[in-house]
Amino acid sequence: MASQESFRRGDAVIFIVPHKIQRKRLEDMKISMKKKNIPLAESLGPNVTHVVTEFESVEQVEKVLKKEGWELPKTAHLVVIKWLTECLKASKIIDVQQSHKLKRTEETESGDKEEDGNLTVPEWACQRVARLVHLNKKLTDAIEVLQEHAELRDGHQDYSRALAFRRASCVLKSLPFAVQDVRQLEGLKDVGGHVKRVLSDLLDNGSSSEVQEILNSSWYQKMKLFTSVFGIGPSTAKKWIDNELESIKDVKRNSVRSSDWRVIWGLAFFEDLNSPVLRSEADRFLSIVQQEAEKLLPGVIVQLCGGFRRGKSSGHDVDILLTHPKEGSELGLLHNLLLALEKKDLILIGHKEKSSFRQEILFQDFKLSMRGQLDHFEKWLGICKFPKSFQEQRLDSCLHNDDSNSNSNCLSDHAAQDLDSVKHCEHSEADTQTQTQGNSQLHKASQEKSSEGTVPTCHSLNESFDGTSYEPSAKKAKCGSSLDACPDDLADSERDWVARRVDLIIAPYSQYYYALVGWTGSKHFNRDARLYAQKVLGLKLTSHGLFDMAKKEALPSSSEAEVFHHLKLPYRDPEDRNC
Ligand code: CTP
Ligand code: MN
Ligand code: MN
Repeated sequence: MASQESFRRGDAVIFIVPHKIQRKRLEDMKISMKKKNIPLAESLGPNVTHVVTEFESVEQVEKVLKKEGWELPKTAHLVVIKWLTECLKASKIIDVQQSHKLKRTEETESGDKEEDGNLTVPEWACQRVARLVHLNKKLTDAIEVLQEHAELRDGHQDYSRALAFRRASCVLKSLPFAVQDVRQLEGLKDVGGHVKRVLSDLLDNGSSSEVQEILNSSWYQKMKLFTSVFGIGPSTAKKWIDNELESIKDVKRNSVRSSDWRVIWGLAFFEDLNSPVLRSEADRFLSIVQQEAEKLLPGVIVQLCGGFRRGKSSGHDVDILLTHPKEGSELGLLHNLLLALEKKDLILIGHKEKSSFRQEILFQDFKLSMRGQLDHFEKWLGICKFPKSFQEQRLDSCLHNDDSNSNSNCLSDHAAQDLDSVKHCEHSEADTQTQTQGNSQLHKASQEKSSEGTVPTCHSLNESFDGTSYEPSAKKAKCGSSLDACPDDLADSERDWVARRVDLIIAPYSQYYYALVGWTGSKHFNRDARLYAQKVLGLKLTSHGLFDMAKKEALPSSSEAEVFHHLKLPYRDPEDRNC
């Protein structure tokens, strides 16, 4: 970049914009320059390499230059007086550093516009601020359709294409201005030619034909629909399409029965699980979990994570992370907590995973196994029965929720926004740090491995559970003996509850703050932070900790801020991690 070039004394020609500088001071500067042999231009000609100004913003200079009829040479640096005084002190022309460059008023820590018109943003998404509400939503929505389309295609090159689209949308989210012209994106390496063409289309015509085509394609619509079933990934969805299934009804009617409990219950409760979980519901459920967990283990820490922690007003599930400052005391908590929730008739169906954590796992290479990129915490992934009354606080929570509009229709905005991101196969998704295509294939395979194979009817339902499933309600209501036996019948029955996806995760306290960062997300934030840790610091970041692979050493943290500190990243609040 030009700004990094050294100027030999003979090459540099400096012009001082006289406006705003006291006459005496200006005279002194000129005398010093003469003394030190630093070339001064009396007028702003094309030979000028450095333009020094006392103004505070590029806009102010541009205004004056226009008024005076002057033209800023294309390659010249626009610098603050500090640069000149440092040159005088050093008796030579020094390199122009970021701090010497005059800024635009609209600039924030997220985006800088160089005087040559090039925009620079921090290289890594985890270094930037990305909020739910930002200035380029129309553009990022469109780019994320392309991302999603690539993910659903799930072919050879598609994972890296999807990631490239995500990177582009991620940059747009942290820009401090609404893009009006793609030329404003000059110099952003995450925004490639393809994305620029789509953005041009959007900016010029209000819509992109490529995005529109995808949105209108029945393949995309069906893939979106089928992958929104809990437990279904692209490969099963494709099979359903190949079998000419068009709707969830078709899937049910054609007795496409999976042996995977997620798919069985996910299909039966499709409507429930596809309606957004409200913040009020998450809060009500959280407080019950808090109450019950505290009874079982006084001093327990119960933390709402995921999208809600990042400020979303609705989501597709409720993620709750639990720990206790006395390491080891958390053992057995999950089992007892599930019994307590079952007693309160809050559990529909779920699966408890034992902790698969072993110290050696931490030092395994990323690429060794996909499993190594998922976490190894003890957890329960399931579906709960949320009483409909949990939704009653709607209005209240709207009024208290700082990210929602204060008008009566507070649900519409964010709920609609968040609905776009409602997905149900998410927890099978491995957070890949290495992002190789091989991994992509592997992870899709692992995602769907348990949903392959078919089981004909609900009568064999109980046999199909593998013993680790936690299905008290299903046990209680045996197939054949009661109408409630079948998930479908239960779903169709009159009920005062809604089926909701819940993740309960248990972390040992020594890993808690890493688990907190990992389970807060966003997914892309994690992906990016993990890749950054590996590439820039040579460290391995997971939800279990941060590891120096060479030294075989862990870097423990006792707060989220410490996690960021170890990563040499500016601390970001959860609300700022929405990339
Ligand atoms: N996560 C994880 N390990 C998993 C599953 C999820 O670390 N096995 C992380 C995800 O990367 C994400 C967070 O946990 O950052 C929450 O996941 P998820 O519920 O899928 O996403 P949300 O961001 O909460 O989105 P939503 O509001 O739709 O639930
Ligand atoms: Mn979530
Ligand atoms: Mn989740």
